[in-house]
Amino acid sequence: MTPVLIDGKKVAADVRARLVKEIEELKAAGHTPGLAVVLVGEDPASQVYVGSKVKACAELGIYSQKWALPAETTQEELVELIHQLNADDRIHGILVQSPPPPHIDEEAVILNIDPRKDVDGFHPANVAKLVLEDETGFVPCTPLGCMELLAAYGIPTAGKHAVVIGRSMIVGKPMANLLVSKKANATVTIAHSRTADLPGLCRTADILVAAVGRPEMVKADYVKPGAVVVDVGINRIEDATRPRGYRIVGDVDFEAVKDSCSAITPVPGGVGPMTIAMLMANTVKACRQQMKH
Ligand code: GUN
Repeated sequence: MTPVLIDGKKVAADVRARLVKEIEELKAAGHTPGLAVVLVGEDPASQVYVGSKVKACAELGIYSQKWALPAETTQEELVELIHQLNADDRIHGILVQSPPPPHIDEEAVILNIDPRKDVDGFHPANVAKLVLEDETGFVPCTPLGCMELLAAYGIPTAGKHAVVIGRSMIVGKPMANLLVSKKANATVTIAHSRTADLPGLCRTADILVAAVGRPEMVKADYVKPGAVVVDVGINRIEDATRPRGYRIVGDVDFEAVKDSCSAITPVPGGVGPMTIAMLMANTVKACRQQMKH
């Protein structure tokens, strides 16, 4: 079986095109959506992500501020910046790139973000709204992007068994909540590093979502023939044949599973491009909601 390759670049471009129109309308009405992106330290992957987020804002006509703070920045200094951004009317969305350096208490920082500006959907108020299925909240961008991909390809979720490997607050848990919601109606199992017989459990999945951060962990024996595989992993592995000395692979061994699944998100070019598109969508949503007040 040759699987359908789920083209995240194309779906992300469609989302962005919709947003460009919305942003033009907002601007005509005197409202320019604004996003502040905060990076603490010099993690190379984080620097790339933050750069891509700011670039996407420019491409769509969203006002942005990039705050690149030194690794020694204290918790107090970071929180002070968050309070400043909370009070800035030009800024509708605030994002602190994860993971911060170890001396920063990330949860405490997130608690200081105004939930109405929490376009990452990490604040407990937004986590609660996701669980409550209150659509005024913000949902983390990566799982939101995964749902958008399934919808764009007409992949049904109702009555299906979805297995999500990974229980992070950024992807695994919100993904499971979205899939089990009354909108999607999947039956959901969350698996993790302590799950017994992980391959056997995954083989019962109609939709398998891999969000663990372990390169090519999902092998052929994890995948039921005909299953849909969503690979959230973005892992750098050494590769001396590449100019940069590394290449990017997912959490799924693509070559091993491609002959048995019915559809799969490739890495790169699957879920990755959707994260930023959904961040832009959340920023526009934040702008709209703040206009009303
Ligand atoms: N690090 C990896 N993914 C994300 C994300 O979606 N948001 C933030 N803030 N940091 C991340």
